[in-house]
Amino acid sequence: MKEYLFILGRDHELSILEIIAYFEKNKLNYSMKGFTVSAAVIAIDGEFDSVISIKQLGGIVKIGEIISDVRDYIYEGTDNKVKFGVSPYEVEDISDIEQEIKSMFKEQKLKGIYKKTKREGGPLMPNEVIKQKLVEEGVEFLVYRNYLAKTLAAFNPFDHEKRDEQMPCKDYLKTISIRLAKILINLSQAKKTLLDPFCGYGVILQEGMLMGLDVKGIDQDKTSIDSAKTNLRFIEKKYNLKVSYKVIHGDSTQLSKIIQNADAIATEPFLGPYIKEMPTIQEAQKTMAKLEPMYDAVIKEAKKVVKGKIAIVVPRFPTIQNVEVVMRFSQIIKKYGYKPWRPIELIGMPVIYPHGRIVREIWVIEPET
Ligand SMILES: C[S@@+](CC[C@H](N)C(=O)[O-])C[C@H]1O[C@@H](n2cnc3c(N)ncnc32)[C@H](O)[C@@H]1O
Repeated sequence: MKEYLFILGRDHELSILEIIAYFEKNKLNYSMKGFTVSAAVIAIDGEFDSVISIKQLGGIVKIGEIISDVRDYIYEGTDNKVKFGVSPYEVEDISDIEQEIKSMFKEQKLKGIYKKTKREGGPLMPNEVIKQKLVEEGVEFLVYRNYLAKTLAAFNPFDHEKRDEQMPCKDYLKTISIRLAKILINLSQAKKTLLDPFCGYGVILQEGMLMGLDVKGIDQDKTSIDSAKTNLRFIEKKYNLKVSYKVIHGDSTQLSKIIQNADAIATEPFLGPYIKEMPTIQEAQKTMAKLEPMYDAVIKEAKKVVKGKIAIVVPRFPTIQNVEVVMRFSQIIKKYGYKPWRPIELIGMPVIYPHGRIVREIWVIEPET
């Protein structure tokens, strides 16, 4: 077994669940040695492609190979100049490692060119690693607690920016981030066919297609459906994809009348009207009272057509009275024979995703056996 260091995104519990879901689905033989807020140490048996994995995982920032000594670095270039970086995670002082790296370069008669982050004392940001081509043309050492690793792959934020820019139809108020879309798809563990019953302009569907899945989408808004069709056709052509896609105009509370089957669902449904100012408890309860029956109906219907897991965003509203208004989603899932997916004790369900005016609960549920 080879040991790897996974540098986690800002929502570390979500990243850990995503890794577990991804490894299970891809049948990787692995053992989670431990994790904290910034990283996970994982031993993996057999083939593991860090470059493909970093593209598919939404919640991972870098993947490194654990090494015992900086001397494990082997120079493969020709001009004896090496760009290098040192990124600390949960360590106070990296001066010893910096010294060791400098001596190692000296021993190998190399000239090290130190690339530092703009954020004094912190790790290199993924965009800095990508811009400096540290993986292809140099080396980045990751220093995490007592571990040392060499970066094999870093998340490329420019890929996402490019994809966002290129899409023919956009409406940022209605679309989920590519990052969260990937996380939800991985959490759903869809094998062949993924369904998004609230597909909007189709970000989740588009990412599903890029991961090799056949996708189906439903939306009750005709403009969204037309836009999703245009976007998915564009993605299919641009990346020469051989997967199928279908988007249908309809009401997902009637799901079983619209589609017959899918392996899994990944979705961010309608989360209520756009909130400009924090609501009162009464206002938030009013919105929740409209959303809850919609969630209830969709979960009931999903049980009839979907075999596997559902990864779904559920809103939770902070209010000016400092009390959160929460959906009774655990009762809904119980009613229809689902249970929360809890692959490890340490992480509860739902996982909170607190970015933006509404707080998102990320739920992964599976049929009770
Ligand atoms: C947050 S957006 C979806 C974002 C989308 N999942 C993505 O990948 O970007 C919510 C969508 O749900 C749609 N919607 C609301 N109620 C619906 C219903 N009952 N059936 C189908 N679609 C619905 C809205 O028209 C809107 O496009």
